Amino acid sequence: MSGTALTAKTIEFPPKNPVAGASKVAMRLSGLTKTYPGNRFPAVKNLSLDVHDGEIVTLLGPSGCGKTTTLRMAAGLEVPDEGEIRFGDTVVVMSSAGLCLPPNKRDMGMVFQSYAIWPHMTVAQNVAFPLKSRKCPRNQIRDRVRRALELVGMAGYEDRPGPLLSGGQQQRVAFARALITEPRVLLLDEPFSSLDAKLREKMRIRVKRLQKELNIAFLFVTHDQIEALSLSNRIALMNAGEVQQLGSPRLLYENPANEFVRDFVGKTLLLRGEVQSGDSSGRLAIALHGSPDCVIYGRTYDPGGIERGKQVFIGVRPEDVEVLPAQGPVAPPGMLTGTLDVALFVGERIEYQVAVEGQGTIDIYGERHRPIEEGHKVWLKLRPDGHSAWESNRSLDEEDI
Ligand SMILES: Nc1ncnc2c1ncn2[C@@H]1O[C@H](COP(=O)(O)OP(=O)(O)O)[C@@H](O)[C@H]1O
Ligand SMILES: [Mg+2]
Repeated sequence: MSGTALTAKTIEFPPKNPVAGASKVAMRLSGLTKTYPGNRFPAVKNLSLDVHDGEIVTLLGPSGCGKTTTLRMAAGLEVPDEGEIRFGDTVVVMSSAGLCLPPNKRDMGMVFQSYAIWPHMTVAQNVAFPLKSRKCPRNQIRDRVRRALELVGMAGYEDRPGPLLSGGQQQRVAFARALITEPRVLLLDEPFSSLDAKLREKMRIRVKRLQKELNIAFLFVTHDQIEALSLSNRIALMNAGEVQQLGSPRLLYENPANEFVRDFVGKTLLLRGEVQSGDSSGRLAIALHGSPDCVIYGRTYDPGGIERGKQVFIGVRPEDVEVLPAQGPVAPPGMLTGTLDVALFVGERIEYQVAVEGQGTIDIYGERHRPIEEGHKVWLKLRPDGHSAWESNRSLDEEDI
């Protein structure tokens, strides 16, 4: 039942048409492998990924998992040891033939974490630079610069000299400069990491709008899962140089392919239970420990290893559990009984720690408008279906993240 035997390929569900009206491959990375000189392990291992026109694909994963290296290979700043890269129909890297075209021969713009803008130029001059070097007519330049600056929330800053901008503003100018030529592919490495939380939210919405308007393919790198979940058409979750799962944000959240994905994306409660029955599609009925009347359904990626009576863990998202004040000593069928240990008011919700019979203490969320006091008996109503089932409760070491 462990997902570790699964390869990224078997769990890739490429949508037939990921974005309506746009299904052409803008960039194809095939079998990319890169080991830095002197390193024992590859930074990126056999990575394959398509990004379609108009699609946002995000590389998500912990620090050091190979996101930047992948992006730098796509940009032409790093030469892969093995593999092939195409932009549209143009092959720009073919390691077997010793081919690796430089960045300016690839139809892309890029914004990297530390992409400095030119300090001796104004904002407008910085943004206009790629158009000027392409001999674009002057009146067009002014309009396009204004539009690009509007997109990044920097309209009105045209004449500001580069050094008089904050770090976040400089990054937004770099963003506008990368967009100005309307490249087919945009490569972004944690472009918002220097912005404050409110601005990041605005930038997410701007990028989403931009995607609709311009039909650009985005390969976006982040370690911020909210950013990845909210922005992406598909996410490639990486660990130790390898893609662990590739698919829609909803797929990764609701059907994580292995323990790494389960624990990296969102929060999961692991409840103990016993398999009552299962079918060949991997859907299992599981009776929860401590409340044999509570049977819920979960999916496993490995239906072969399941038999009746097997002890398993069922992965439940905290928001799929409703906390209710107990109405009597025995919970109705389908519910768990517990005692509310700790209540934390965090604004949009209340976070409870509940000691559950047969399960230990678990963290769940409650509604702000229906607070329950510490020490009270509670019933936990679980969503009956749509959970994930696991053989182990092995979790990610915090230090791995
Ligand atoms: N220039 C380099 N020389 C040697 N090792 C590097 C270099 N750049 C990155 N690495 C190593 O390669 C691995 C992947 O790094 P990177 O692609 O930067 O990861 P991420 O962007 O996901 O944090 C890490 O182990 C990192 O230490
Ligand atoms: Mg990085």
